Amino acid sequence: MPEWTLVTGANRGLGLEFVRQRLAAGAPVVATCRQPGRATALNALAGEHPGHLKVLPLDAIDPRSRAELVRELPLAIGKGGRIDLLVNNAGVLHGGERFGHLDGDTLEHSLRTNAVAPLLLTQALAPWLAGGARVANLSSQLGSIAGTTRFGTPSYAISKAALNMATVQLAHALRERGVVVVALHPGWVRTNMGGGQASEAPDESVAGLLRVIDGLSASDSGQFLDWTGARLPW
Ligand SMILES: NC(=O)c1ccc[n+]([C@@H]2O[C@H](COP(=O)([O-])OP(=O)(O)OC[C@H]3O[C@@H](n4cnc5c(N)ncnc54)[C@H](OP(=O)(O)O)[C@@H]3O)[C@@H](O)[C@H]2O)c1
Repeated sequence: MPEWTLVTGANRGLGLEFVRQRLAAGAPVVATCRQPGRATALNALAGEHPGHLKVLPLDAIDPRSRAELVRELPLAIGKGGRIDLLVNNAGVLHGGERFGHLDGDTLEHSLRTNAVAPLLLTQALAPWLAGGARVANLSSQLGSIAGTTRFGTPSYAISKAALNMATVQLAHALRERGVVVVALHPGWVRTNMGGGQASEAPDESVAGLLRVIDGLSASDSGQFLDWTGARLPW
């Protein structure tokens, strides 16, 4: 039975690039996104890789949508199919926050998207993870408490710090099964989120992240690494 890569937020940005590079490496991929009908680039890739790319709907913060994905997964990957790489990539950054005007909804939405969703999705997909699978949580150096030297994007920073803790918790929960869970910073990358001035190209960032993931061993589980493999301070 083939082992699959599953990517969230796969319709654009780094998620789409993960899909491209795993397909190019010959891996079958489940690409999830909020609106598959509008995911033009993904649907074109599905045409180029018949049978190797399944596009399924997932709004990562919606419990019903997560449950529906779990129900549909056996149809997509086959009853004995397993996931050997789960990329929790979907994320949100609310810009323009100012101290004195912080808003609970922005903070809650960031936490639900960037921390709660990857934690609960990984839990829901745990029965489908192959022994020795990798779970890559797309974090950010902005979630590094030790690296924070100024006020900025607090909802994003707090939610990525929470994701880092979720990563360590998952690493412990899944250790017995040999599943390795890491928090990964992709660099500052030219996507909608990173903007046009960012220093890294998406293909180079994802190539680096996949090299890091490929080189992980059991003792790396629960670490916070960047796209070059360097360890980041918590
Ligand atoms: N770019 C950078 O410089 C950078 C730096 C550090 C960390 N990161 C992290 O890397 C990851 C990917 O970032 P990116 O730069 O590719 O961002 P992006 O271009 O803004 O793409 C974000 C992706 O997340 C999806 N998404 C957001 N909320 C979702 C939800 N509730 N359910 C499902 N999908 C959802 C979006 O889907 P829609 O199209 O439906 O909105 C989109 O596919 C994020 O976790 C981000 O925090 C990026």
